Amino acid sequence: MKADPGDQSLFCGTSNALVKRFLSPAVFNRLCRLKTDTGFTLARAIRSGQKNADSSIGIYAGDAQCYTLFKEIFEPVITAYHQITAPACHTRNLAFVDLFDLDPDRDFILSARVRVARNLDAMAFTPHINRQDRQMVEKQILDALHSLSAPLKGCYHPMEKMDPGQIRDQAHTGKAFIPGDRFQEDAGINRDFPLSRGVYTSEDKTFMVWINEEDHLRIICLEKTGDLGRVFNKLVQALDCLGKALVFASDPCLGYLNACPTNIGTAMRAGVHIRLPKLEKHPGELEKTAQAHGLQIRGTFGEKTRVTGSVFDISNRRRLGVCETRIIQDLYTGIAALMEKEKKL
Ligand code: ARG
Repeated sequence: MKADPGDQSLFCGTSNALVKRFLSPAVFNRLCRLKTDTGFTLARAIRSGQKNADSSIGIYAGDAQCYTLFKEIFEPVITAYHQITAPACHTRNLAFVDLFDLDPDRDFILSARVRVARNLDAMAFTPHINRQDRQMVEKQILDALHSLSAPLKGCYHPMEKMDPGQIRDQAHTGKAFIPGDRFQEDAGINRDFPLSRGVYTSEDKTFMVWINEEDHLRIICLEKTGDLGRVFNKLVQALDCLGKALVFASDPCLGYLNACPTNIGTAMRAGVHIRLPKLEKHPGELEKTAQAHGLQIRGTFGEKTRVTGSVFDISNRRRLGVCETRIIQDLYTGIAALMEKEKKL
């Protein structure tokens, strides 16, 4: 497929964002006067990408309808990001897996984390939601969370009454999250922060739900372990319970629909924090092995951060067209391969 050169005047000349590659003047002109039922426009969807020349994607959805109304731009971005060859087809398999602990002595793996993003059906997404609806989203999610039993049972930490210093402190203990980065800021996601934001944590703190961060829900399982299967299975259990109480925005082909087109389909990111001091000195080798297993490398403190102390955040890149159990199995083989390389160097 030949990439469309895109409308150079809409985006900064140095931008390599996927949205710029596919948003030709013709496509822009066809879509620019449309509005979703909640009133979201293409101009709003691409604002973050226009303002941040270093965006890699550059587009957000303000509601579920964006994916159909603005399909002409969302579809090529999705196809390119998730490396889909055939027409997008979501497959779901949230079943328990049986995997060995990759690193029982914890020589390499510091922690394993699996998360999914979800949005409530028929509610505007975070770039577009108003205060009242955001509050309603928080309430509905809390009602569902309060029905959970052990080991998922826990308590909610509303962020509304925390000042910025407290939020920063609580974020370190996992009981809050800091406001979104400039990409999210320009997408409108940080509006009214920290109103109706908060974190639910299980008693042992290995299960968490972030409310109204980039999506209505970020459902997270995190443990200081190399046992990916255990962490994944806990998430499966949580999703099974929450899926009975909440209806999530989804599409038969695109799967779960979320604010960023990178987070659709399974909307799952499974990864580890892993210390690879030797491979760090061979970045080409590290990148090649990660890519061969469909893995993405991020900095120590997450997206768009630096690597500190040779600790990498390594996770699956694709979230659509591949089911959840496959993602976790591919991560397992990929991380095992990286550990082998590290040991041999
Ligand atoms: N909008 C940003 C970009 O285009 C982030 C994309 C993926 N990350 C995310 N948190 N949704 O680079």
